[in-house]
Amino acid sequence: MDKNELLKIAKKARERAYAPYSDFRVGAALLCDDGEVYTGCNVENVSFSPTCCAERTAIFKAISDGKRKFSAIAIVGGKNDLDINIPCYPCGVCRQVISEFCDDDFLVITKNGETAESTAFSDILPKRFKINN
Ligand code: THU
Repeated sequence: MDKNELLKIAKKARERAYAPYSDFRVGAALLCDDGEVYTGCNVENVSFSPTCCAERTAIFKAISDGKRKFSAIAIVGGKNDLDINIPCYPCGVCRQVISEFCDDDFLVITKNGETAESTAFSDILPKRFKINN
């Protein structure tokens, strides 16, 4: 799937974000190896720590539907419609969760102005933790 198309789906998913505390709304679109796309948004909580990021929402939806192989995730985040052109990369917790299910060449796609900026997963989480490697 085209990177800009995946970003468009993430932007649409951002509309469903529940972010009354930070007002920072995020949408994610996760591309499975079989071509299916799972979306997610951030879901905040008054107690703050139970908040779930958009990326993890998408991953958990896909995993619980039986998907295990992914090739890319597009992320769109920001407080308003201008901010969403600033690249939004996954937080450390989401990087670790994504790491469980992706290869080094998994692509993280975000907006940089009107450009689709894409980065290999191994560049955003180098030397990732593995058992018995
Ligand atoms: N957030 C995400 O959804 N994804 C990220 O990669 C970073 C942060 C959310 C969590 C919280 O609801 C809001 O953005 C502000 O941190």
